[in-house]
Amino acid sequence: MISITGLHKSFGSATVLRGIDLEISQGEVVSVLGSSGSGKSTLIRCINGLEKIDGGRVTVDGFDVSKPRELADARKRSGTVFQLFNLYPHMTAVQNIALAPVEVLNVPRKDAEAEARRLLQQVGLSERADAYPAQLSGGQRQRVGICRALAMKPSYLLLDEVTSALDPEMTAEVLSILANIAKQGTTMVFVTHEIEFARSISTRIAFLDKGQMIADLPTEDFFSDKGMAMPRVAQFLSKMRKD
Ligand SMILES: Nc1ncnc2c1ncn2[C@@H]1O[C@H](COP(=O)(O)OP(=O)(O)OP(=O)(O)O)[C@@H](O)[C@H]1O
Ligand SMILES: [Mg+2]
Repeated sequence: MISITGLHKSFGSATVLRGIDLEISQGEVVSVLGSSGSGKSTLIRCINGLEKIDGGRVTVDGFDVSKPRELADARKRSGTVFQLFNLYPHMTAVQNIALAPVEVLNVPRKDAEAEARRLLQQVGLSERADAYPAQLSGGQRQRVGICRALAMKPSYLLLDEVTSALDPEMTAEVLSILANIAKQGTTMVFVTHEIEFARSISTRIAFLDKGQMIADLPTEDFFSDKGMAMPRVAQFLSKMRKD
């Protein structure tokens, strides 16, 4: 389980997360929604130990991400995919995917590369397995990025706007792959502006507003009168639907 209690995070004098509480159990797909600047990416970075937290506690399967000795264990459990496909340009798709299993988990290279090819096949990229990132489209690169996270067999997949740099066709491509991964039971924390997609794959919606989690509801409730009764949620949804 990912457990976040009383999480505070500031950058200089700007407080970005103001006491976040969130628990995510195995098998859940939680979408984190909220306006630009509300703190969604910062939250994901805190879960993955990429930001030093200023208060509260974040644990992943019981490992405290603020303790250097426990961070590596916490990280092994959660794979992160960011908005921009940060693949290594000098490595092929297969090499990018196999890198961490070889270096971090000591998987023999041959096995790691075979697994990488299997993952690429799952996302419809068998034929591009030996291509370099520069030879791939944005959507293809993002699919390689997702495979790279999955290669570590994470208990939790953290996804931060993985489709926001993609055109609608590539977005659809990547979203359908994520829907498949969700169906297989991978626990996901999904930051997105794709409201309808969030609605279709999530078990729960967490809504951030200026660094506070003002709603944490089962998806059905969030998109019903219950969610709409919250002025910030209603305002956000009506604006997103217009855009
Ligand atoms: N490294 C940093 N240094 C200073 N301020 C930062 C840093 N990272 C984020 N911030 C600030 O923290 C706030 C929250 O940023 P964050 O990236 O978490 O928002 P977000 O909800 O992910 O927004 P978006 O939807 O635009 O991606 C913003 O005001 C941002 O300017
Ligand atoms: Mg962000």
